[in-house]
Amino acid sequence: MLIVKLNAIDSTNSYLRKLSAEETVDDYTTVIAKKQTQGRGQMGTVWSSQASKNLTFSVFKDVSQLHLEHPFYISIITSLALLKTLQFFSISRLSVKWPNDILSEDKKICGILIENVIKQNKINASVIGIGLNVNQTKFENLPKASSLKMISGKIFDLDEIVHVILKNLKYYFLLLKKGQYDVLKEDYEAYLFRKNKPSTFKDKEGTVFSGFIEGISESGNLQVLLEDDIIKEFDLKAITLLY
Ligand code: BTN
Repeated sequence: MLIVKLNAIDSTNSYLRKLSAEETVDDYTTVIAKKQTQGRGQMGTVWSSQASKNLTFSVFKDVSQLHLEHPFYISIITSLALLKTLQFFSISRLSVKWPNDILSEDKKICGILIENVIKQNKINASVIGIGLNVNQTKFENLPKASSLKMISGKIFDLDEIVHVILKNLKYYFLLLKKGQYDVLKEDYEAYLFRKNKPSTFKDKEGTVFSGFIEGISESGNLQVLLEDDIIKEFDLKAITLLY
């Protein structure tokens, strides 16, 4: 398994996507950057991270043989691998803010950006990008961000964390290969942020509405119980969970 360490790059996801388009890349090839100059988040957002303090890295995985029921399962297992890792490092009060922000004490400590490589209309491979706030202690203008250091008071070794994440990612890919969809979905739902609690959302038009998060569908849509007692499903682009 190849681990590439870079001092600076635009984005580890972009780098690994380009690399996999140019040559054959083995499973779990990992690209870690001390600094990203154009770190990308979900839905076209920017991911900024203090150089050398945190983890910004991407992992390549061929998923062509998995016969995935739905690509969202890659999100599910990545979230679960991160949760298992954070538990190993004694980080508590963990949750997943749908679709895959990892929170501790209701603050975001990790973001995940999964980009799929499509071949012949099928997902051939995934580039799994992970931004984990580790030893950074100040987040200007981001009151809802936190880090492992801020939560635990401890300084962490970045290489050790990557090692545990990769181990857990392999474990969950094995469960996915075995087709353990129900167990994985259940495990993910057990960590859903604000599950069964009154929550406020914003839709594409900017309308704010409330409801209770019930769970996720097979395809990863969020199921929300609305005021008129109807459960409605929303996809990733349709709503934002405000609080
Ligand atoms: C999000 O929360 O919006 C997702 C953030 C993902 C950030 C990681 S950092 C490593 C990889 N390279 C990127 O450009 N983005 C991901």
